[in-house]
Amino acid sequence: MCGIIGYVGDKQAAPFLLAGLKRLEYRGYDSSGIGIVDARTKSFDVRKINGKIANLENLIHSQPLCESSTGISHTRWATHGAPTRINAHPHVDTRKNILVVHNGIIENYESLREKLQSRGHRFVSQTDTEVVAQLIGEYYHPSRSSAKPEDLLAAVRKAVKQLKGAFALGVIAADQPGVLVAARVGSPLIIGLGRGEQFIASDVPAIFQHTKKIIYLKDGQMALLTPQCVQVSSFDGHKVQPKVDTVNLQIDAVQKQGFAHFMLKEIHEQPQVLKQMFQSRVKHGAVVLSGIHLTDQQLKNIKRILIVACGTAYHAGMVGKYIIESLANVPVSVDVSSEFRYRNPIIHQNDLVIAISQSGETADTLAAVKEAKARGAKILAICNVVGSSLAREADAILYTHAGPEIGVASTKAYTAQLYMLYLLSLKLGMARKQLNPQLGRKLLKGLKHIPVLYAKILSEKGSIAHIARANSHFGSFLFLGRNINYPSALEGALKLKEISYIPAEGYAAGEMKHGPIALIDEYRAVVCIAPESDTYEKMISNIQEIRSRKGKVIAIATDGDTTIKRHAPHVIYIPQTEKLLTPLLVALPLQLVAYYISVKRGCDVDQPRNLAKSVTVE
Ligand code: AGP
Repeated sequence: MCGIIGYVGDKQAAPFLLAGLKRLEYRGYDSSGIGIVDARTKSFDVRKINGKIANLENLIHSQPLCESSTGISHTRWATHGAPTRINAHPHVDTRKNILVVHNGIIENYESLREKLQSRGHRFVSQTDTEVVAQLIGEYYHPSRSSAKPEDLLAAVRKAVKQLKGAFALGVIAADQPGVLVAARVGSPLIIGLGRGEQFIASDVPAIFQHTKKIIYLKDGQMALLTPQCVQVSSFDGHKVQPKVDTVNLQIDAVQKQGFAHFMLKEIHEQPQVLKQMFQSRVKHGAVVLSGIHLTDQQLKNIKRILIVACGTAYHAGMVGKYIIESLANVPVSVDVSSEFRYRNPIIHQNDLVIAISQSGETADTLAAVKEAKARGAKILAICNVVGSSLAREADAILYTHAGPEIGVASTKAYTAQLYMLYLLSLKLGMARKQLNPQLGRKLLKGLKHIPVLYAKILSEKGSIAHIARANSHFGSFLFLGRNINYPSALEGALKLKEISYIPAEGYAAGEMKHGPIALIDEYRAVVCIAPESDTYEKMISNIQEIRSRKGKVIAIATDGDTTIKRHAPHVIYIPQTEKLLTPLLVALPLQLVAYYISVKRGCDVDQPRNLAKSVTVE
């Protein structure tokens, strides 16, 4: 959601910024822009446009930018004001001294706007961001002959102290080529350190080809960047000695590598991701979760677990409830992060809060975590992105290390979260002596074998593609599952609606007769998740109820199930595994069905409309 990239150095800024914006496309956006400083005229040269980055590229091609080695750029995901050229970033102040890009939401923008208007500032956009440019502009008025980098830093400092909400900012001044100021509260921002050049960006993929040395700016910190150095300070003006991390991202991780879409590539990466998780987390038959920072005695003392997450991560959390309760005998509640925060949650001593997030930047989950911490909870995060805000906020962290997930629809991150929850449940069950050791060994063996089963499903993806295409004309879908695969049904529906825009609902199959059955007719496709399980017979009854109302059934069943063929015209088979592990296998055909339907309908698989990869506003 909104991507920022900025540059000061000795090279041309515009090509660098454009290439960086392309690497941030996956975050989700609806317009983009680039602004650079023209050192000769001490003015800005700006290009903005709505739609894809390709539009910006074409615009710059037809109206080239001037030469400059100082610039900022942005992909905007509209919050305040439509996705138009005027509302696209960067935004400039009335006197055209200050240029700003912003990620986040300025909550007090209306009152600030009124005050600024009354003092003569003229606004041209509907955005909250424009108040930031105007506010900084108001404080920035050095005489043109003696403008110093510190003047810009001081003006930004005065302005940020008045802002409420979340923001990551990149700011340049028309009369200061070679100077860039960044600031952050709540929205992610990193600084890349180069030789004779420095960068800011929302995310590592935008700049990792230029530097591996990264500073993760913290909330309440700002930075002054010049080609030679970076100075970090707090909003109060105290100098900060920042930690410099080395990132180890390979170019392959952010390229499609011959796959038609990132989503398909990431689906195919799952066997390898899970295999690596097993190898690094299971040693001599025992689960090793070094990042957990809890002794066996502390694990024994846990009285209750509260899981908070959003979207797909929430569905992983729901599966987590079933497995933690059954293997470790600890009560688990699962909340959508945005609801948890406002429901006055009760937290006792010895409660553990588990926050699950691929990006670690989801504003709702971060807010839920802050709320839980304020109530005295210990936070364990399950997260994919190293160094993310969640990783820094949590008391303990279990990284899934699934690698960058570029497709907006979460695939490998989801199954890695599930896998981690299985490992955690086994660890908890063993430490609390609630798990029958024989069952523990069987499940570990099953988990070890999952990557091989994934490879088998993937080798048969042609038949899944065939079923998906044959049903791609349906105008609406229902996904039904029971017990541990009820969350699988929710996830299947979410995946399909995200990338194909087909209305899709997930339901606990037992709930069908309490309402959704009214929707069943020959125009409704129903995906029935019916692997071998204790509720299999009940699913067959559901399938019959759907068939007798002419609904079109696509069943997901276990290899060797010949009965189901009599009830469902389309059956997707998954290999046999432990019943408790079936959500891991069911996820794969659900992802593939959504993928092939999206492709067939000509949708933008990797960047579906209106969606953002990391949702950094509440
Ligand atoms: C998944 O396909 C979605 N795009 C979305 O629901 C996502 O899972 C959610 O926004 C949470 O993101 P996070 O895991 O980065 O916190």
